[in-house]
Amino acid sequence: MTDGIHGRRIRPDEGPLLRRLRLAALADSPAAFWQTLGAARTLPAADWARRAEGGADSPADLVALVERAGEAVGMVQGFTPTGRPWLRELGAMWVTPAARGTGAADVLLAAAVTWAAQAGAEAVKLWVAPANRPARRLYTRTGFVVLGGPRPITDDPSVKTFVPMLLPLHPPQRR
Ligand SMILES: CC(C)(COP(=O)(O)OP(=O)(O)OC[C@H]1O[C@@H](n2cnc3c(N)ncnc32)[C@H](O)[C@@H]1OP(=O)(O)O)[C@@H](O)C(=O)NCCC(=O)NCCS
Repeated sequence: MTDGIHGRRIRPDEGPLLRRLRLAALADSPAAFWQTLGAARTLPAADWARRAEGGADSPADLVALVERAGEAVGMVQGFTPTGRPWLRELGAMWVTPAARGTGAADVLLAAAVTWAAQAGAEAVKLWVAPANRPARRLYTRTGFVVLGGPRPITDDPSVKTFVPMLLPLHPPQRR
């Protein structure tokens, strides 16, 4: 049921839209993300602009949006962890509550996995809160497997822990 829903990469000039979506996500689902709304609010406009520019057209970084009837209703980000060019990591995955259960999340995730595969990555990794059942269902349904137990993502283990999940991609042809 994905009528009227489509994914696209962010455009380089859409920093303000990225900011709006990310702040909405952090306000809606604070437990799902390591970043806090308060911290994100303090980021300067130049930071959002840089993220949009970097995520628009790069094999190393991604910002993908999902639109319904021409309006952005969700986002996901991707990046290449330092020193691991064979891996892509996803984060900031969010669909606005009114668009959940419509296939928008599948569109976003498919866009991110396709981006990673086209970049030549061998696997896609992400972190999910242990109690986040909708997200864990979505990732498991897509083929992600749990890599291990919950681990703190911030320096303070009492704050939040996340479970690592991995989606192996077809390895590149080797001679
Ligand atoms: C995670 C998210 C993007 C998934 O989007 P969605 O539109 O809800 O995704 P789906 O409709 O495919 O639902 C995912 C699964 O969760 C299930 N689900 C939905 N609501 C649920 C609930 N309250 N409890 C348990 N499972 C639930 C769905 O039935 C589906 O499972 P299924 O494959 O067995 O049918 C969206 O829920 C969201 O933005 N959540 C808040 C932010 C977040 O958690 N981001 C992920 C960070 S890792």
